[in-house]
Amino acid sequence: MSAPGDAVKTPVKVHIVTIFPEFFNGPFDCGPTRIAREKGLLEINLVNPRDFTTDAHRTVDDYPFGGGAGMVMKPEPIFLAVESVRTPASRVILLSPQGERFNQDTAHRFKQLPHLILICGRYKGVDERVRTMLIDEEVSIGDYVLAGGEAAAVVIVEAIARLLPGAVGDEDSVATDSFAQGLLDAPVYTRPREFRGATVPEVLFSGNHAAVATWRRQQALLATARRRPDLLQKATLTPLDREFLQKTLGKEASNGSQNEK
Ligand code: ADE
Repeated sequence: MSAPGDAVKTPVKVHIVTIFPEFFNGPFDCGPTRIAREKGLLEINLVNPRDFTTDAHRTVDDYPFGGGAGMVMKPEPIFLAVESVRTPASRVILLSPQGERFNQDTAHRFKQLPHLILICGRYKGVDERVRTMLIDEEVSIGDYVLAGGEAAAVVIVEAIARLLPGAVGDEDSVATDSFAQGLLDAPVYTRPREFRGATVPEVLFSGNHAAVATWRRQQALLATARRRPDLLQKATLTPLDREFLQKTLGKEASNGSQNEK
């Protein structure tokens, strides 16, 4: 549903190429993905390679040449499925554990694209000709093997949907997300002020916006330094940030402490 004043914008169009369209009953019907679809910011379509087969069994897989375990997805039904929806503006993406790792930067890049075609592999994988002749890029959502690319497609679509202006109630919330500034998020609290003996940091009641902002920045820096030092290497840090980290982490190191509080 669109509200008066909502910007009219060409939606990000997504086609998901999948032999399990039923997998997607549900995940796109809640949260920012639903809102983005209802506001016309995002359009999601499913294409089933089985609909492009010509044999009685609607075969989409076959034995691997050279032998070995597992079935391989045949190239033709995937090529025909993609070609049925591809335009010169499309970006064709294969989802597989062999792909480039998906992250927040990728989500930002994808949300700028007018048309994404996400190919979900299944079984042992897709025929190599899909990789060499059909796709623009190959994406993985992490170093683990899923039963297929469908769950990865859900992850990617949701990460894009919540970046589309209007899909999330509070735009500021997206701007301060984990990774939005290359850092993990600062901790957040709500009522009650004391829960099972654990209290909320005093600064959050100070009404001093600058002090709260400084505390949040420092907590984000600390969380990132302790849990994801790889991210800290790439983040843009101010001289004040560096001074704070040096002081705090230096003290921790000399106390031998890993305590996060
Ligand atoms: N298909 C199977 N595993 C996957 C992964 N980790 N990322 C994307 N697609 C996949």
